[in-house]
Amino acid sequence: GAVAEVFLQQNLINKNICSPMGTEVEAEVINWLRELIGYSVSNKLTDVTQLGGAVTTGGVMSNTYALMAAARKHPDKKIVILPDNIGHYSLSYATEWLNLGVKVVYCKTNQYKLDQVELKRLLRMYGKNVLFVGVYACDSMTSTCEDLEGVYHVVKGFENDIWLHADACHGFALSFSDVYRSKIKYLRHYDSCTMDPHKVMWLPYTLSISLMKNADDFRKLSRTNALIMDDPLSFGQTTPFIGSKSYDSLKLWMVMKTLGVRKIGEMVEARINNANSFYALLKNDT
Ligand SMILES: Cc1ncc(COP(=O)(O)O)c(C=O)c1O
Repeated sequence: GAVAEVFLQQNLINKNICSPMGTEVEAEVINWLRELIGYSVSNKLTDVTQLGGAVTTGGVMSNTYALMAAARKHPDKKIVILPDNIGHYSLSYATEWLNLGVKVVYCKTNQYKLDQVELKRLLRMYGKNVLFVGVYACDSMTSTCEDLEGVYHVVKGFENDIWLHADACHGFALSFSDVYRSKIKYLRHYDSCTMDPHKVMWLPYTLSISLMKNADDFRKLSRTNALIMDDPLSFGQTTPFIGSKSYDSLKLWMVMKTLGVRKIGEMVEARINNANSFYALLKNDT
């Protein structure tokens, strides 16, 4: 896929002039991933701003899109709550890059998950000013998966308007596996999530995806311009900071088409089994 992508030379900024086939494939990949985690899917491709997601250059960019959409939806809210110690830098840095004027508050963690008692305390303290709560499924250092269900109930039980985001750059791959899918089944209730196939799906760099449960939230990020993007099928409309756009999604499309969900799930399980065996070996090695 990666080799073919180079020679096909499609630029997904625009469908009609530059990428008649690539745009269709990329939309299909976005829909497959939405379906896999349980977000709703629009079947007919008439407008890429309705897809509720976009392919980006990496998890840093995908997380940035999520924060951007949250801030656009609730411009008056100014508190972003993130887990202390376990986070990836992208969510906190994005608040600076976007110049959002928000304050990042770090919530204590326990065993690499949010301390929900502390989270409740912070929610009460900042009240209606809380814009965004971000969690990790799974975190970059220990691969611990957040208690997505518990956090969902704490946050949405407090205030439905708080944007709840899961950085699932690592953990989304569990959604392919019958054995591990239940760990992330609550992702489908989160306002947004990010996925990095280039980390965990045996693909060459780069390929990341930013998804939003409510396609309208994603749509608010879109911009059009008569120069090249004045067409509902131009992905350039929905990818802030990215102009010309390579055909990265072809790699994942080929992997999913060739192996299918179950086979990929088995590969994910085999990798986890390997890690567990290695851990046991180390532990028993005196
Ligand atoms: C949890 C998590 N989110 C985001 C990123 C950023 O990903 P990328 O390097 O694809 O931009 C990483 C990278 O290690 C990560 O571990």
